[in-house]
Amino acid sequence: MTGKIRAEFGPGGEVAFVDPETLVVEAAALAGVELQTPCGGKGKCGQCRVVTAGDGLTPPDEVEVSSLSEEDLAKGVRLSCRARIVGPTQITIPAGSRITTSTILETGLVDGVPAQPNVRRAELALPKPALGDQRADLRRITAGLGAGLAGCEADLDLLRELPERLRESDFAPVAVTIGNRLVDIRGAGGIPQAYGCAVDIGTTTVVAYVVELESGHVVGTGSAPNPQGAHGADVVSRVEFADQTADGLQTLHEESVGIVNRVIAEACGEADVSPRDVYEVTVVGNTCMAHLFLGLNPHYVARAPYIPVVDQPLRVSAAELGVRVNPRGEVYVLPNVAGWVGADTVGVVLSTRLRESEGPTLAIDIGTNGEVMLWSGERLLVCSTAAGPAFEGAQIRHGMRAAAGAIDHVRATEDGIAFRTIGNQPAVGICGSGLLDAVARMLDLGVINPTGLMVDEAGAAQLPPAIASRIAGKDQDRHFVLATVRESGLDEPIILTQRDVRQLQLAKGAIRAGIEVLLAETGLRPADLERILLAGAFGSYIDRVSAVRIGLVPSLPLAQIIAVGNAAGAGAVMALASTSEREKATQLAEAANHVELSSRPDFQMLFMETMLFQSG
Ligand code: FES
Repeated sequence: MTGKIRAEFGPGGEVAFVDPETLVVEAAALAGVELQTPCGGKGKCGQCRVVTAGDGLTPPDEVEVSSLSEEDLAKGVRLSCRARIVGPTQITIPAGSRITTSTILETGLVDGVPAQPNVRRAELALPKPALGDQRADLRRITAGLGAGLAGCEADLDLLRELPERLRESDFAPVAVTIGNRLVDIRGAGGIPQAYGCAVDIGTTTVVAYVVELESGHVVGTGSAPNPQGAHGADVVSRVEFADQTADGLQTLHEESVGIVNRVIAEACGEADVSPRDVYEVTVVGNTCMAHLFLGLNPHYVARAPYIPVVDQPLRVSAAELGVRVNPRGEVYVLPNVAGWVGADTVGVVLSTRLRESEGPTLAIDIGTNGEVMLWSGERLLVCSTAAGPAFEGAQIRHGMRAAAGAIDHVRATEDGIAFRTIGNQPAVGICGSGLLDAVARMLDLGVINPTGLMVDEAGAAQLPPAIASRIAGKDQDRHFVLATVRESGLDEPIILTQRDVRQLQLAKGAIRAGIEVLLAETGLRPADLERILLAGAFGSYIDRVSAVRIGLVPSLPLAQIIAVGNAAGAGAVMALASTSEREKATQLAEAANHVELSSRPDFQMLFMETMLFQSG
């Protein structure tokens, strides 16, 4: 650690030892604190602010001076993407500068979209019928709703109730329309607000956001594991279950609708909203998840040449689908691009404004399937790559989901390694972000080489004793002890085996090969990228230093590698809040050039090359 400078981050007390001139954002990442950098370090967004006292940082540069007020500068506020560490320092990180799963929903991308919902709520004051005004009830309401709704329609069951409801309200009702369809009418105060729900059906987790449609604000969230996981962690096993089990498709469909209802109910509960006041639901998910939700057979999605039943946006009745919101509500499923590139990818492209980026920008949604999106400046390319479940902690000896007790961050210390667990609980396993960190640190320490091979006994003897003593076993069972029995919450040490390292190599190689294919397709080099956007919960929590170290993503300055939270879910929220965003999503799905990796002769070769752990 000679020549390294100590930087401590509050309020958590995380510490990193860094080289002089390290950017604050990079030092924070080394300490395990991920900061937001939405503008990629251009000093435009101001969301990477930190506060410091003393003289451990470089003086404010011209970008900081022009974007921070004099008052802020006097208080020690700095931009972590510009300030560099030159001496021992203590830095406080405001809560708003940290990355959280819902960062994207809380901090502006969605808030920046003017509300223009398909669902409208109107308080009417209608003229009462008279011998001189014998208009029918529906025509009277239509006139009250304004010229834009001249062709207003209504369901028969609502028409049957209309006369009484109108008169009970003394012709001053509250009406709700979806598009040009009248779907609800109640007395004054009967519908205080109209709400919608945006749902992201992930292979692993399903998330719902309740949105107050007049403002476009998210007011409640709910999430739960996808119960289809009981039939297999990945999409292919679900399709096999649908194919090979009696009523398999129906079971998966019912599970999907059931979990959507559960997360909507949870989100409504959090916001104290009645599901009856939710009139529209927008849905994103990979193509297979969307098919199962709709009860469409995904058989041909999963087999070459991977043909979905439908790729256009779909509008269906909530009641027909069994979605428990207002019985006259609608469900709008965003379009997919191809069999393996779904509406969730469209959601990411929409919410990150990828196609409006100034320079070449890459977006990656890392999961069991990794979706890679590249905006070259002229073309939008997308592909899907089978990363396998290692990032979810599956098929790893002590792997687990990101839950209490999972090792989620590993860092080097003066005499070895240290780890952090979720919830500061005793370590019971290692999740994807911890796995990535552990392998990066093992590379740094020389425990594995760039081919992923763990040192043999002779090699281990060359390492510091504190590290060498953690290496044991033979061949595929050769392993590195991350948590000793004393540090572990189990009756055994938590280890990372040679086999685990290989699993991570396969996952990382698949994602990186997908990136390289898209870059090759546009003639760009990794260094030409201006920004890399990491979407999804995993992308938001991984340590960017480690992701670059193992070569999962191209090597860019850290501030240009940006975690964008649940961007797919944010896309569903935007499509709910604004009909123009909905149209934009359809245009993006049509404009995206899908690259089918399995048909690319160079994919296998690139995959072999990118399995190496090297940054670049
Ligand atoms: S000001 Fe935007 S990342 Fe620093």
